Amino acid sequence: MQLGFLEFGVRDEDAWHAFLTDVVGTIAVGGGRYRMDGHAWRFGVVEGRDDLETVGWEFTEAELDVALGHLAGADIEVLEADPAERGCHRRYRVLDPAGVPLELVSGLTRATEPFESPVQRSGFVADDQGLGHLVVTAPDPAGSRHFYEAMLGFRFSDRIACSFHGHDVDLAFFHANRRHHSLAFGGQQRKRLHHFMVEARSMDEVGLAFDRTMKAGLPIMQTLGRHPNDRMFSFYAQTPSRFQFEFGWGGREVDDDTWTPSTHDRISEWGHHPPQVFWPEESK
Ligand SMILES: [Fe+2]
Repeated sequence: MQLGFLEFGVRDEDAWHAFLTDVVGTIAVGGGRYRMDGHAWRFGVVEGRDDLETVGWEFTEAELDVALGHLAGADIEVLEADPAERGCHRRYRVLDPAGVPLELVSGLTRATEPFESPVQRSGFVADDQGLGHLVVTAPDPAGSRHFYEAMLGFRFSDRIACSFHGHDVDLAFFHANRRHHSLAFGGQQRKRLHHFMVEARSMDEVGLAFDRTMKAGLPIMQTLGRHPNDRMFSFYAQTPSRFQFEFGWGGREVDDDTWTPSTHDRISEWGHHPPQVFWPEESK
């Protein structure tokens, strides 16, 4: 299973086009869709209210049948949808416990041409690890955990519980493949997601993306830093829809045969500070 696609409902589609192509380094393939790897598309942008519109989780055919069986057994409403609209083989719509619209799909179309971006030259760590990860809203973390683990088959990676700049943090991380986490949550967010993450293949490319973000005038929300659990070296900035994206490198992989979940007492080994905490009071 993997994070197959993300669709965002946005007020300013032109700003999103510039953001996804010039800052993130994906390629426009038409119809408001963008690719970053061997999948025909990974990001979709439609008119909306500056929030996550749909999360596409891609399953193998057999995994999809298992998940549908669990959902039916729990009497959770699942609607079959037209796969042609997504370019996939099978497609089902379901809401997660927080009301986030999900699509459970199989067989997303792969591209016929190799991915080449003039911006993100060595491409992204994606393909069978999915497009990256996202942190979704979860007002009832226990309910969300049950849904994602018992219904969809996610596996618990670890937890971070700490205080960070005056905020209590309690985040749970889940994997669906070798990527340390494809999904995380830890409470209610202002929007359906806190951020999504993409992973570059080199540290320099994080620096180059940082430069592009600054040049585009997108606010840096968390400085460069490294997380203790997935070891991701990354920064966070604001998308044109005022939720965040994380651009990283160096994420660790998990092997289910040897992995033991643990709890970390800090969100970052170093960095990831909101930059304004260092500014003098008069410049805030
Ligand atoms: Fe993240």
